[in-house]
Amino acid sequence: MEHEADDGDEDRPVFDTSVAHIARVYDYWLGGKDNFAADRAAAEQAIAAYPDIVFSVRANRAFLARAVRYLAGEAGIRQFLDIGTGIPATSNTHEVAQSAAPESRVVYVDNDPVVLAHARALLTSGPHGVTSYLDADLRDTGRVLSAAAETLDFSQPVAIMLMAILQHIDDADDPWSIVRALLGAVPAGSYLVLTHPASDIEAQRQGELAKRLNQTMAEKVSLRDHAQVARFFDGLELIEPGLVRVPEWRPSSDAEASSPAGLWGGVGRKD
Ligand SMILES: C[S@@+](CC[C@H](N)C(=O)[O-])C[C@H]1O[C@@H](n2cnc3c(N)ncnc32)[C@H](O)[C@@H]1O
Repeated sequence: MEHEADDGDEDRPVFDTSVAHIARVYDYWLGGKDNFAADRAAAEQAIAAYPDIVFSVRANRAFLARAVRYLAGEAGIRQFLDIGTGIPATSNTHEVAQSAAPESRVVYVDNDPVVLAHARALLTSGPHGVTSYLDADLRDTGRVLSAAAETLDFSQPVAIMLMAILQHIDDADDPWSIVRALLGAVPAGSYLVLTHPASDIEAQRQGELAKRLNQTMAEKVSLRDHAQVARFFDGLELIEPGLVRVPEWRPSSDAEASSPAGLWGGVGRKD
């Protein structure tokens, strides 16, 4: 079944609702309303395999907010390239960055037409900053970088954000070389912000979750272990506390730190 996005636009994207897609499945786990029956069925089957997925995704969003607050507030970063943005949710990157540094410039990138349909909610920059949205595939790094350069100044530091997206790039597409290509385009003083579902946290349950998602979703999932995720940071200086379970990255409280979450997350600096 095909649906047009209900956003009143002339050029409304058309999308297939009969097959589950990760942007909408993730939206359902987060408690959002931008999902369809196939997404909800896939999401529920995954929850049955790994009930803590609903805490995991919230912990992932909370990590995003803490990392962006750190970068804009403490590290002086004013440019963000957020690839695999997802359907707008709490604490979108520009909201967090511009609350710390109103002049922050953010480019959002996703390849899902449903995210494109909701892009207007991401294009609500404050008057001193800029946000833009690019409908593109992460694997097409040349296009991502050249289009992002219309908004971002690549002679100045940029935070490249790859939040819970690289599990959808399988080993055959060499996600490590994709990350290297992105990092090669930004100057010293830039950052990589990355989270990734773990094959070595709650291994059995998360393994079953990935198996079920791979049977139901359009996008395939590859879980990776700590060492494989650490390789994305090769050549970077990992900011304290390093590559950890996402709630343990600079938590605001002991309660936050102890939240269940099956993702590794970290922030690295290019020197
Ligand atoms: C699990 S969601 C994560 C959303 C958000 N980054 C977060 O962490 O809250 C993954 C997102 O990556 C997008 N995505 C997956 N593969 C992609 C690709 N090859 N290129 C661009 N976006 C992709 C999906 O459409 C989805 O919106």
